[in-house]
Amino acid sequence: MEKKNIDWSSIGFSYMPTDYRYVSNFKDGKWDEGTLSTDPNIVLNECAGVLQYSQSVFEGLKAYTTEDGRIVTFRPDLNAERIAASAARLEMPVFPKERFIDAVNQVVKANAAWVPPYGSGATLYLRPYMFGSNAVIGVKPADEYQFRILTTPVGPYFKGGAKPITIRVSDFDRAAPCGTGNIKAGLNYAMSLHAIVDAHKQGFDENMYLDPKTRTKVEETGGANFIFVTKDGKVVTPKSDSILPSITRRSLIYVAKEYLGLEAEEREVYFDEVKDFAECGLCGTAAVISPVGKINDHGKEICFPSGMEKMGPVIQKLYGTLTGIQMGRIEAPEGWIHVIE
Ligand SMILES: Cc1ncc(COP(=O)(O)O)c(C=O)c1O
Repeated sequence: MEKKNIDWSSIGFSYMPTDYRYVSNFKDGKWDEGTLSTDPNIVLNECAGVLQYSQSVFEGLKAYTTEDGRIVTFRPDLNAERIAASAARLEMPVFPKERFIDAVNQVVKANAAWVPPYGSGATLYLRPYMFGSNAVIGVKPADEYQFRILTTPVGPYFKGGAKPITIRVSDFDRAAPCGTGNIKAGLNYAMSLHAIVDAHKQGFDENMYLDPKTRTKVEETGGANFIFVTKDGKVVTPKSDSILPSITRRSLIYVAKEYLGLEAEEREVYFDEVKDFAECGLCGTAAVISPVGKINDHGKEICFPSGMEKMGPVIQKLYGTLTGIQMGRIEAPEGWIHVIE
């Protein structure tokens, strides 16, 4: 298979249509058998549930070329479980886990020429998503749905090294208590757009959201969970019912304990204690870990000892180990790596 003629190191994080996408429709209470399609466009009724009441959920994962030339995906079973939980919360039918993994395999295999080569820093991003497709005018769940997976090659997240970012404590809330903060629904992202545009206008890279009930505990940013390191080298991540259960964060906790022999805990993190941490990072599929150098709390700055030039030493080790596992340089825990045959 010949790769597409693309300068892999110069592409960014933007949509580039590839040859195939996976499509399956839910009608009369069941999913059809699903197919690969060459058509990137969707024709919908003007009154489709997704257009009126935002009934949509999605996922994000990547396909990598490993050091020995295999194409793999990372823990797609967890994406399958998470989109099932998201769908159930929005009264949408669940796309079965085995079918989700099979659809990932099919669409990556069909687009193998678009999977960037090992060492380029680029990857093939997969976006599984599902939406209410039939006409709905009264406020109720749709009866028909479409599940799709589109793929697009994305460039290295950090060009020229991972520079620490500056974030601010947001006055907007991301999630309501007992709301939808713990699922990956499009509506959570629509309502975060104003906050992120405003943060950028004020010169910040991201928003730190606090818990909406008491505004005393750290939640997450608009697209990543937090990871902190204490001065004595313990890894800490915030626990909350209203944050997205990040697959990267869960993997990093395992890596910290089982590969690096560090103590790691998931617990409530009060904003007041953030100033005492040695390192801070944002974790998610896109960047694995983005180091945070500074947090601005309404004009008061918290500057981490790791500084504004490079990742702190513990976060660097976590980053190196997890990316090593994903790229096949380090042996993975059982079941983490799915080889596309
Ligand atoms: C709100 C939010 N939190 C956290 C994450 C990180 O999750 P994951 O590590 O599964 O990509 C994402 C990205 O998917 C996200 O959108």
